[in-house]
Amino acid sequence: MVISERIRKALNNQLNKEIYSSYLYLSMATYFDAEGFKGFAHWMKKQAQEELNHAMKFYSYIYDRGGRVELETIEKPPSKWEGVEEAFKAALEHEEFVTRSIYDILELAMEEKDHATVSFLKWFVDEQVEEEEQVREILDLLKKASGHISLIFQLDRYLGQRE
Ligand code: FEO
Repeated sequence: MVISERIRKALNNQLNKEIYSSYLYLSMATYFDAEGFKGFAHWMKKQAQEELNHAMKFYSYIYDRGGRVELETIEKPPSKWEGVEEAFKAALEHEEFVTRSIYDILELAMEEKDHATVSFLKWFVDEQVEEEEQVREILDLLKKASGHISLIFQLDRYLGQRE
């Protein structure tokens, strides 16, 4: 069964949001590199890569269901934050926004009784729990380390080990 135009558009739009997520995290990487936080920059580069993988999952799914992908403009992300904690806070807020967006498409798919799309989106529902939790954990550590630059550098080294 070919996907409805409404669902195709929503998925296509989500593909754009995933690429924007990649762009946003790459921008955070540029900020961290400029500030001398190589580990945080490395973590963000890995995250940017992961977001591109998410985008490609939407790409493949749209074609698997007989749809057509149309690439849209990618918004320019911010390039500066007040500090490390503020950048990760912005990352968490962004992930919460992405989660809401996935839920909106899921509700649309349920409304249209498009079970295949509901099933496809379940992976993203679980992935979002993981993504939010990861960033929330880092943010908690940063809050605890607040004002102690040596602890922040320790965390920077730790996140620099992300595979
Ligand atoms: Fe693809 Fe981090 O949401």
